[in-house]
Amino acid sequence: MTSVTRDERRGAMPWPSSRKPAVSIVGLLPAVVSAAQMVGRDSEVRLLPEEAEALGRVAEHRKWEFAAGRTCARRALRALGRPASPILIGTHREPVWPRGIVGSITHCHGYCAAAVALEQDLAAMGIDGEPHDPLPADVLEAITNHAELAAVGDLPRGRVHWDRVLFSAKESIYKAWFPLTRKWLDFTDVFVTVDSSDGTFHGRLLEPVIDTTAPTGFDGRFAVCADLVLTAVTVECSRPSVIEG
Ligand SMILES: CC(C)(COP(=O)(O)OP(=O)(O)OC[C@H]1O[C@@H](n2cnc3c(N)ncnc32)[C@H](O)[C@@H]1OP(=O)(O)O)[C@@H](O)C(=O)NCCC(=O)NCCS
Repeated sequence: MTSVTRDERRGAMPWPSSRKPAVSIVGLLPAVVSAAQMVGRDSEVRLLPEEAEALGRVAEHRKWEFAAGRTCARRALRALGRPASPILIGTHREPVWPRGIVGSITHCHGYCAAAVALEQDLAAMGIDGEPHDPLPADVLEAITNHAELAAVGDLPRGRVHWDRVLFSAKESIYKAWFPLTRKWLDFTDVFVTVDSSDGTFHGRLLEPVIDTTAPTGFDGRFAVCADLVLTAVTVECSRPSVIEG
């Protein structure tokens, strides 16, 4: 397991509250997905009693981000025509979605988003938001293998911190992967290639994981603005093969 702490990855920069991000998670997701995002303080952020109990006593900041995630999730569920039921916490910190729903949550320094879809439309999804800063060098080294690192170095130089895009892509992949397999996936278990020309990426599992039906590759999209990197991965439902004849 790669040892990368949450604070190391994120840096300490709070969201510049006067600015709205120029990118949206909605634009990265297919039409079957309902998504909601929030920037800065929102007076409607609430926890349902069951969620507050599941969270327990935590620091104020953690309570805020957890509640913001749940509030976004409920907005997204309502837009899907689903009631605003509690979203509890699984044994591996994953959100426990209402029956028939797949989804994902992210929050980073005042930005928060949630996305949901009907299980019949998507098998899984993962979304991730990160501050658009360079990753600390030791973190980049810990989350990539050599070929991946070289490929990131070949991406067009400019204003995009490709190392952060790569990191976020891997976190989105993990959030889609986990509900399908309930297994750990290390950062270096997946080889991610980023296509700078069309805002897409692909993650390929380096060691196929036997005893699961999870895919061995994950397709995603990314968007970047001054303050934020957003990534999203969706996994289609497998269709039964058609036998002709
Ligand atoms: C779980 C993890 C991906 C969360 O990412 P993060 O950048 O720390 O935080 P984010 O705000 O983007 O996401 C947090 C949300 O992810 C969701 N989440 C947490 N664990 C999860 C899991 N096992 N499966 C799916 N979603 C999960 C939760 O909704 C959480 O918010 P909440 O606790 O308020 O409900 C990250 O902490 C982690 O453990 N990463 C290591 C595994 C990994 O990424 N491997 C890469 C494989 S290529």
